[in-house]
Amino acid sequence: MQPRHFISLLDLSSAELHTLIQRAIQLKTHRDPNYQPFKGKVLAMIFEKSSTRTRISFESGMAQFGGSALFLSPRDTQLGRGEPLEDSAKVISSMVDCIMLRTNDHETVTTFAKHSRVPVINGLTDLLHPCQLLADMQTYFELRGDIVGKTVTWVGDGNNMCHSYINAARQFDFKLNIACPVDYRPLQNIVDAAGHRVAFFNTPEQAAQQADLVVTDVWASMGQEDEQKKREFVFKDFQVNAKTMAAAKSDALFMHCLPAHRGEEVTAEVIDGPQSVIFPEAENRLHAQKALLEFLICR
Ligand code: CP
Ligand code: NVA
Repeated sequence: MQPRHFISLLDLSSAELHTLIQRAIQLKTHRDPNYQPFKGKVLAMIFEKSSTRTRISFESGMAQFGGSALFLSPRDTQLGRGEPLEDSAKVISSMVDCIMLRTNDHETVTTFAKHSRVPVINGLTDLLHPCQLLADMQTYFELRGDIVGKTVTWVGDGNNMCHSYINAARQFDFKLNIACPVDYRPLQNIVDAAGHRVAFFNTPEQAAQQADLVVTDVWASMGQEDEQKKREFVFKDFQVNAKTMAAAKSDALFMHCLPAHRGEEVTAEVIDGPQSVIFPEAENRLHAQKALLEFLICR
């Protein structure tokens, strides 16, 4: 049987994603120490880039449910010395139950998955960050109920997080208003596939009109450190601040995948203010990924 992968939110059906979010909410309050569904199971985690939340949530999630996780850096494995990805995928997947990869190129994850005999999870690529969206959706559902028909505002770079928000708009059926500089728009094919759900605006205030949720991310992602100065200039009008939140509904939530740069993409006033839910959002990485791992490896 071909393994199921989670490389994009589109790899699961909308119904499967909704079930997974409900399961994540259940697991958050699950306190039975005898529940060990991952007993004897091993998750390999390959990180080409840094991580706090992704590494800790996957590692803790495996341990708390009786399994274990291996942290693998290309620097210390043969991957960094040019062993073909196809060979690595065949070898690693013959020894573990699931593999999570955080890579620069998205193609690294898709190629790896093609040759893996166990489920592969995308822990962030330059194109997508689907695991973060599971946590974000869980957080919205917990605090406000179903997101269907709601308005979400994305401010800033049309990056991996923005692409995953567009895919989430399709799967969870919400409206996504995007305010970003013209040269930093998300990829057109991803936008087109979402149809009428996605709209572009010139300013954060216009995009945030009547929004239920406002989201942003760093101006320079991992791997774009050299562009930091240029991006500070290009993105200076694409900040989430008090004016942006004032345009949104009075009960709108603010989310950010973290790490954040206060004073750049978001003011301290907003990210540390009453509408911000960044810490429950971060914690939900743990619960949402436990639900994802259950779905993928306990079939
Ligand atoms: N949000 C997120 O993926 O955080 P890390 O880079 O710390 O894993
Ligand atoms: N867009 C950011 C997300 C970090 C979790 C990056 O790729 O660095």
